[in-house]
Amino acid sequence: MIAQSRDWIAEAAAIAESAHEWAERFRTAPFVNNNGMAPDTAFYLYYWVREISPKLIVESGTWRGFSTWVMREAAPAAKIISLDPIFALGHCLDSAKIGSGYWPTDLERTGTDFSCCDFEFLAKPAPSLVLFDDHQNKIHRLQQAIQKGFQHIIFDDNLPGQATHQTFFHYMQNPDIKAWMEKIVERFEIFPPLWDTMAGMRNETFVPGLNIPRDPALACLDTTHQPRSGYTWLTYVKIKDAALRVPNVNAPTE
Ligand SMILES: C[S@@+](CC[C@H](N)C(=O)[O-])C[C@H]1O[C@@H](n2cnc3c(N)ncnc32)[C@H](O)[C@@H]1O
Repeated sequence: MIAQSRDWIAEAAAIAESAHEWAERFRTAPFVNNNGMAPDTAFYLYYWVREISPKLIVESGTWRGFSTWVMREAAPAAKIISLDPIFALGHCLDSAKIGSGYWPTDLERTGTDFSCCDFEFLAKPAPSLVLFDDHQNKIHRLQQAIQKGFQHIIFDDNLPGQATHQTFFHYMQNPDIKAWMEKIVERFEIFPPLWDTMAGMRNETFVPGLNIPRDPALACLDTTHQPRSGYTWLTYVKIKDAALRVPNVNAPTE
C-alpha cells in the first residue's frame, strides 16, 4: 500500500466533534439502510465531502440512495449525478423488496456504467468528486475517473482481504501498479475506524481505531459489536494536477 498522506491521530479531536454533529443529522435519515453503507462509514464519507466541498458529485453505486443523502447533507449545493444499473432495470425488480429510497427530483439518475458516461466532455466545476461504491475493480475505476478529468475520488470497500472485486490492497502487490499510483496520486487516505474493530467480509481483520471517547450520543455510529462491522476501509484519492489527462478548461480554479 502507498503511504497515507494524513496524521489521523492528530485530527482525532476534530473528528470526534464532527462525529457528534453527524450523529445528530443521522437521526433525520430518510430510511434505515440495508445492504449499503453503514452509519459509521457514512460519517467518514460525510467528513470528506465536507472537507472537499465539491460542486459536482458523481456517485456510482447508489442502491437506495443512502450515500446520496449523506453527500447531500455534506454538500447541499452540489449537483449530484447517480449511476446504478437498478435505474435501468428497476422495472424488473420487486420494489417491495428494495424498499423506499432517497431519489429527490433534482437528482440526475442513469443506469449507464461510469465508463460509458461522457463526463470527459462535460464542463466540470472544480472541485468535482466521484464516489465509487459499485464493487467494480478499483484500478479500472481510478483510470476511468482520471480519463474523465476527476481529481477527487472516494472508494468504498477497499478491503485488504477477501472482497467482491479487486481492491487497491490487491493491486499494490504488483510493483508496476504501485509505482504508477505513487506517480499520479497526491493524496491517498484510508479513514480509520472511530474505535478498534474487526472488519472484512467475515469480520476477519483487526483494524486499530482512533478510539475517540465513547459517548451514548455516538452509539448509533458504533458497529464494532456487529457480526460484520460497518467498517469498509473508505479511501480518498486525490490525483496530481499533472496526471489529469483531460484539462478541465471550463472549470474555475479551486
Ligand atoms: C453496496 S451497494 C451501494 C450502496 C449505496 N452507496 C448506499 O450507500 O447504500 C452497490 C450498488 O452497486 C450497484 N452496481 C453494480 N454494478 C454497478 C456498476 N457497474 N455501476 C454502478 N453501480 C453498480 C448495485 O446495483 C448496487 O446497488
